[in-house]
Amino acid sequence: MSKNIVILISGRGSNMQAIVQANIPGIHIAAIISNDPDALGLRWAKEQGIHTIALNHQDFPTRAEFDLALQHSIDQFSPELVVLAGFMRILSESFTQHFAHKLINIHPSLLPSFTGLHTHQRAIDMGCKIAGCTVHFVTAQLDYGPIITQAVVPILPEDTEECLANRVLKMEHQIYPQAIADFIGGHLTIKGMQVHNSRTHLQENGAIYS
Ligand code: GRF
Repeated sequence: MSKNIVILISGRGSNMQAIVQANIPGIHIAAIISNDPDALGLRWAKEQGIHTIALNHQDFPTRAEFDLALQHSIDQFSPELVVLAGFMRILSESFTQHFAHKLINIHPSLLPSFTGLHTHQRAIDMGCKIAGCTVHFVTAQLDYGPIITQAVVPILPEDTEECLANRVLKMEHQIYPQAIADFIGGHLTIKGMQVHNSRTHLQENGAIYS
């Protein structure tokens, strides 16, 4: 029997699309939830016939109330895994505790460097020679939690924020579905801040996964 996953988005949803299009064996995408009713990704998901929910955070007086409503909305699907894919809300401790070890995020930097926003410009400004992306389990601390997988790309001398972001995004689209497949396949074990993956992935494009 396939396992339910729920994906949370706020915007264009290109990672969500990559996950949907990966047709990961053993999963059922039970719902796509967005805190922005106008999110482009929500429209795309609807067109695919996927169950979508818009839960506008502006309709709630406090963060705690929104988080609780979101939690209830997710819980109705009893998901094995909750996937943050460009979900631009900070989540409260009670939410992250509730979904502990079954809530993952993708961040466009090589964590623990460059948490927060504008990761690509900050990496360029700091003279970094490489950049990348990280899939990690979510904890109450922003962009911090056991790392599942990372992919690396070069930063080239003529790079703008936009072209670096595009280069990293291509990697995001590869490692996120892979990380989900590994989770669902039962290949991940968490020990403190470390995640052991019983499968190691070395790709032709040179990205090293886990
Ligand atoms: C991605 O860069 C992701 O790493 C970050 O937000 C962006 C979302 O892009 N968390 P998309 O909505 O998946 O296209």
